[in-house]
Amino acid sequence: MNITRPGFSLAGPIALPENEVQLWRVDLGAVGPEEPRWQQVLSEDERARAARFHFSRDRQSYVSSRALLRIILAAYLGAEPRELSFRYSEKEKPALSGAHAAQKIEFNISHSGMAALLAFTRGREVGVDVELIRHDFDVEGIAHRFFSEHERQELMAFALEERHAAFFRCWTRKEAYVKATGSGLSLPLSQFDVSMAAGNINALIATRPDATEAERWCMREVPGGDGYAAALCVLGRGWRLRAWSEQERVSCSAVDDVQAP
Ligand SMILES: CC(C)(COP(=O)(O)OP(=O)(O)OC[C@H]1O[C@@H](n2cnc3c(N)ncnc32)[C@H](O)[C@@H]1OP(=O)(O)O)[C@@H](O)C(=O)NCCC(=O)NCCS
Repeated sequence: MNITRPGFSLAGPIALPENEVQLWRVDLGAVGPEEPRWQQVLSEDERARAARFHFSRDRQSYVSSRALLRIILAAYLGAEPRELSFRYSEKEKPALSGAHAAQKIEFNISHSGMAALLAFTRGREVGVDVELIRHDFDVEGIAHRFFSEHERQELMAFALEERHAAFFRCWTRKEAYVKATGSGLSLPLSQFDVSMAAGNINALIATRPDATEAERWCMREVPGGDGYAAALCVLGRGWRLRAWSEQERVSCSAVDDVQAP
């Protein structure tokens, strides 16, 4: 679903089948100004974190995306948004804690510019990343620093006018993997290769030193909105994506056929 109204609410429980990944998009420009409403949904520690943001735009993005995370999770769980509690891994990846953790709902969120993406699964680790495609970026310099040799070569093979979009496809795919594993910046970004071809649904090409790791994950491009690149990485295969933009279910695995809506 695409959340574009500050008055957004969810009535009743929503199903999250085990073989499905559900992707939501939030228009932060539309929902951010309704901050007092979203603040009411947050816990004490979340409100304290919100108060530490220097820029009000960053605070609004955090507050509205965290509140909507709670509202959507509560709809999956049949609970109240304020009842939910989170724990954080050593690298700060949030997960449900307490009694609600037993339902094995996994989630990940990402925000950039005026967009937030929220991905939900059951029993599978998940990472999502969205980035505003910027053209004022030294893509060659950053690629030299962070991308693998394979990726640098693939990037330089793109024509100049296509290189920024290719760069952000690569970046979001790398981030989605790092976020799915929860490893944050501790995983050297040169230890795995992703494809930067547009529309790729099987984008994790190689992992090092353990080459079998690449087969454990499914990484694909997802719709991020006009002017945005976005990617999703999920543990295992045999799941379908229910994406915000398409109202349709798309197969993840390259070996499966696309499912009928
Ligand atoms: C924190 C990090 C996980 C993602 O940061 P990011 O891309 O700047 O931010 P995103 O908006 O995509 O994601 C932030 C959300 O991820 C979640 N998150 C935080 N730590 C996480 C972790 N270790 N694993 C997974 N998710 C995490 C949180 O929900 C966070 O949202 P919140 O701050 O509203 O609670 C980390 O990977 C990072 O700092 N990456 C940037 C590093 C870089 O240079 N990348 C180059 C790629 S080529």
